[in-house]
Amino acid sequence: MREPLTTALDDPAAWRGDRMAARADWVLSLDGAMAAELEAAVAAVAARGTDLFAITRDDFPLGRMRRHFETMLGELEGGRGFVLLKGLPVARWSEAETRIALWGLGTHLGRPVGQDVAGSLLHDVRDTGRPFGSDESIRYFQTNHAIRLHTDGGDIFVLGCLRGGARGGRTLVVSAVEVFNEIVRSRPDLAAVLQEDFWVDARGQRADGARCQVLPVYTWHAGHLSILLKAEYIYSAQRFEDVPRLTGRQAEALELFHRITEEPGMALGLELRPGDVLLASNHTIVHGRTAFEDAPGAADRRHLLRLWLTIPNGRPLPPHYADTREYAETYRQRMPA
Ligand SMILES: [Fe+2]
Repeated sequence: MREPLTTALDDPAAWRGDRMAARADWVLSLDGAMAAELEAAVAAVAARGTDLFAITRDDFPLGRMRRHFETMLGELEGGRGFVLLKGLPVARWSEAETRIALWGLGTHLGRPVGQDVAGSLLHDVRDTGRPFGSDESIRYFQTNHAIRLHTDGGDIFVLGCLRGGARGGRTLVVSAVEVFNEIVRSRPDLAAVLQEDFWVDARGQRADGARCQVLPVYTWHAGHLSILLKAEYIYSAQRFEDVPRLTGRQAEALELFHRITEEPGMALGLELRPGDVLLASNHTIVHGRTAFEDAPGAADRRHLLRLWLTIPNGRPLPPHYADTREYAETYRQRMPA
């Protein structure tokens, strides 16, 4: 039996975007020595021709960044929930070398988890030209649409920017803990609804073929408040006749959630530039982006690379996460061997 959380949390993960925007302590800019070290690590691996997914932390020495990795992990779990790394020398790398750099960074922060039913470990976030709804499995990150605030999978996502796109594509991050606090203060009844089960369209991404997952938006477990939310997929699950209809209170709770995220000052907006890497908790942060338009000519198209990681200091996961496509692998990785 899950116990709902009925009070606001005093937590560093609860913050407002306008206050965060006035600070700069969430940005880590690589200095020249760190960038050089990263370049050397990439060059060494590229020269050896090691298969990307076989690259381990030992293949990729980053001694100068070690203390920063500890700080970053502390912020991602137990802190504000995100870090923006700036200054990867992507202009000097081929696309393949940038993939090595992002993967190599990832090996220092955690263990990659598969991001889809095929188990892909490194995803390309860019417009495939196929609109959402054009087939059963198309997912928003494969389009140029605006993406409503949501969570990914694994403890954290790592989003590295190769190219930003011509227009739009502004990344938004919001503290889901702050939003919960607002909800529980104004509508504690709806805070409780969000901790009850919703039916969520699995978009063809479950290994067992299940069309839906059934789980709450917020879960309070072992002293941690976690969110797992894909509102669009809650709505699209309604296309299945055997899925229970969304109740008025559930719809109202989701609307309130999104209304609060849209309040002035709630979201932190980020213009990701080439060489930026956004790392954020999937437990405490919801993220999205505005629509974008690519410049004419394929060479300048918006292109981000994405990793999902299990981190070594990750929180205890609620038992029902074991049966979600977002957390099954992280759940297994965290179990004692
Ligand atoms: Fe996402």
